[in-house]
Amino acid sequence: MSASLRGRDLLSLADLSAPELASILDLAAAAKGGRQLGRPLEGSAIALIFQRPSNRTRVSFEVAVHRLGGHPIALFNPEVQLGERESPADISRILDRYADGIVARLISHRDLEAIAAAAVSPVINALSDAEHPCQVLADCLTVRETLGRLQGARVTYIGDGNNVCASWLYAAALAGVDFRIVCPPGYQPPEHVLRRAGRLGGGDAALSITAEPADALRDTDIVYTDVWTSMGQETEQQRRRQDFAHLQVNEALLALAPHSARVMHCLPAHRGEEITDAVIDGPQSIVFDQAENRLWVQLALLALLYGGGVG
Ligand code: CP
Ligand code: NVA
Repeated sequence: MSASLRGRDLLSLADLSAPELASILDLAAAAKGGRQLGRPLEGSAIALIFQRPSNRTRVSFEVAVHRLGGHPIALFNPEVQLGERESPADISRILDRYADGIVARLISHRDLEAIAAAAVSPVINALSDAEHPCQVLADCLTVRETLGRLQGARVTYIGDGNNVCASWLYAAALAGVDFRIVCPPGYQPPEHVLRRAGRLGGGDAALSITAEPADALRDTDIVYTDVWTSMGQETEQQRRRQDFAHLQVNEALLALAPHSARVMHCLPAHRGEEITDAVIDGPQSIVFDQAENRLWVQLALLALLYGGGVG
């Protein structure tokens, strides 16, 4: 029996309980294996707001909404001009009158919270400065497929302790992952995120944060990286290139991990910065399976939010 998520928001991965996370992953795996999820969005419209660029998130959500019988409406910032032409709350109230849900990629998590507070229908975080929960749902499915389990998986995240890392911290706490963060001083996840993850943890999760990769990589199952310069941080690119230079996921760094370790990246990759062509295109990379899984987890998430796929 799947957990019911009907009518809920997903702003943070920490909004989920451990059984709800497991239900999304189970249903995503079933859908990927051929299970039909029906048309719970028949007659419904879902608004997708993109204040930042996207490839995977927008296309996978549009396809998922369509497959579930709904009509996706993508809105880009030159049109909505969030916070300039209209406040986030007013945009939300209006979309709520026409559509049955909002998927939003916003610069500021506070604006996302304002949208959710003003909306009656579900609001899904499609990436904010604080989190990227849909990405990490796909990541969890990918780890589970690759290792046959999520609980106890040794996942080493190398890079900035920001949005993707924060969602991973919550998922790791919920699912009992041994999560290792390798980041330069000054780029650790915020204290409040670490405290919240600590409160979520059921006891079998493990967390370490270091600046040097060797110890974390020695017996890791997964080597995970993200861009050094996230969207909106472009003015910091030079400094970040220097600060992260020793953490490039290249063949030498990957050699510190077991041969069986697999490489993940949420994409888009800045090839030649945080990861080299040889690694991302190499035999240990599973990044394109990971990207595909965005579709399956979002299908499952929408099916559970809108009442289908429960059984
Ligand atoms: N990983 C991810 O969210 O990709 P996009 O920015 O292309 O949506
Ligand atoms: N940390 C990256 C993730 C992109 C999917 C960013 O925020 O740009």
